[in-house]
Amino acid sequence: MYFDTHAHYDDEAFDEDRYELIEEMHKNGVDNIINIATDMESCKTTMALAQKYDFIYAAVGVHPHEVKDMKEEDINKITEYCKYDKIVAVGEIGLDFHYDFSDRDTQRYWFAKQLEMAEKVDLPVIIHSREATRECYEIIKKSNVRKGVIHAFSSSTEVAKEYVKLGFYIGIGGVLTFKNAKKTVEVVENIPMDKILIETDSPYLSPVPVRGHRNNSQNLQYVVRKISEIKQISVENVCEITRKNALTIFFKK
Ligand code: NI
Repeated sequence: MYFDTHAHYDDEAFDEDRYELIEEMHKNGVDNIINIATDMESCKTTMALAQKYDFIYAAVGVHPHEVKDMKEEDINKITEYCKYDKIVAVGEIGLDFHYDFSDRDTQRYWFAKQLEMAEKVDLPVIIHSREATRECYEIIKKSNVRKGVIHAFSSSTEVAKEYVKLGFYIGIGGVLTFKNAKKTVEVVENIPMDKILIETDSPYLSPVPVRGHRNNSQNLQYVVRKISEIKQISVENVCEITRKNALTIFFKK
């Protein structure tokens, strides 16, 4: 039923019940998950999850928060990881000018480097863009990468359309169900169904009515229901189309 294209089950928030939870979710309609790395260490824990479960895939890369610790040799390591067949994307990579956990020039440098690497290994990218909309778009446009997803999309419809034109998908998650999500609702209204991916960002960004609690992929039911209301198509149809989209972007060479 559900294909969660963005989750972090190697996060310490799942230390107590990781495997029970994953197995229970899989029995309850979570067919596939892409687990996303955020730093060099989690590249390894992410790959371990993909190795343990046939229905889990992995993305490797370093999050803008963590690029302050990146070294040149890490690019070679990630390039090597990308050769494993269950690695379906480079991510999450991008810019975060909200928290500025890594200084901005450092973020810009490693974002461009990781895009270049994604192009070389011919994998789609998973983009984290927060309060850096214009610059993030410009850096991607300057690169030759033309396949990927803008994860937890939070910008305007206009920007979403520009990304779609560039070949990108729009990642929609729990935020869509928030009371103040007018902008995201408008994005879903205006972007064709075949450009939308569903995601949780577990353990973060839980949808209403479980907002504030640890997120998991079963909560995609709330996101899917909201999309079905907006698009006026059935829940089954939303699941089917978003699954097809995930297969197209991550599994079609
Ligand atoms: Ni994430």
